[in-house]
Amino acid sequence: MTTPVKLAIVYYSSTGTIATIARELHDAGLKAGAEVRMVRAGELAPQSAIDSNPAWVANQTATADVPEATPEDIDWADAVIFGTPTRFGNVSSQLKQFIDTLGGLWAEGRLADKVYSGFVSTATAHAGHESTLLALYNSVHHFGGIVVSPGFTDPAKFADGNPYGTSHTDGQGTNPVGDTTRTAARIQAERVVAMAARLKAAADAEPPAEAESHPMAAPDPEAQPRTAGERPRRWWQRRRR
Ligand SMILES: Cc1cc2nc3c(=O)[nH]c(=O)nc-3n(C[C@H](O)[C@H](O)[C@H](O)COP(=O)(O)O)c2cc1C
Repeated sequence: MTTPVKLAIVYYSSTGTIATIARELHDAGLKAGAEVRMVRAGELAPQSAIDSNPAWVANQTATADVPEATPEDIDWADAVIFGTPTRFGNVSSQLKQFIDTLGGLWAEGRLADKVYSGFVSTATAHAGHESTLLALYNSVHHFGGIVVSPGFTDPAKFADGNPYGTSHTDGQGTNPVGDTTRTAARIQAERVVAMAARLKAAADAEPPAEAESHPMAAPDPEAQPRTAGERPRRWWQRRRR
């Protein structure tokens, strides 16, 4: 029997918007039947910068118990949802710094074959929702990951209007996360868990016998004959745990 999907929510948040959406994704992931880890990228800003902004201090205090993300969280996960505030239309340096610690896993092929998705928050309406998510997804392509975006797969997606991922406009602290964004987050978490579950079930299933004789499968002249009863190992079985 296939075990529950392991979902990692990995985010960075200065002033709490992304942290709020991360919590919504966390709860929705659990409801969808996943085992969920919610972790935050380490802070890079000096404490003096944080102390100059009351909202930043409040978020730092409120999320002090959220564990700091490590590469092992990604290795553990079947599905990863990354979250970041936009920074000049791009991924925050804190989340990017975390992504840059994944080189070792990448070199071993351990970032591949997982489901990835993203969420973002901006101050103004047309200042980075899509560009930030697309920038985030650049890294996923290098991982060999599978981008699972929400698309317009649920009628409620027409309310938030962003098929690339959950996004929120915080109006520089004047527009707290509300129902539209929370609904988008729930749809995204449910879809990520559902798609990861399908992949997991397929990987756990017996490889179909006819795959061996698929006309596109070129014979390997150096292949050793298998002993009776031995089943072929697929490439993903060779590379993963
Ligand atoms: C250095 C910097 C650059 C930013 N760049 C943008 C931007 O390009 N577009 C935008 O709408 N908001 C921008 N913002 C605002 C944040 O992305 C936005 O307020 C976000 O919702 C904060 O999320 P958080 O509360 O989780 O930290 C920027 C903020 C900072 C500090």
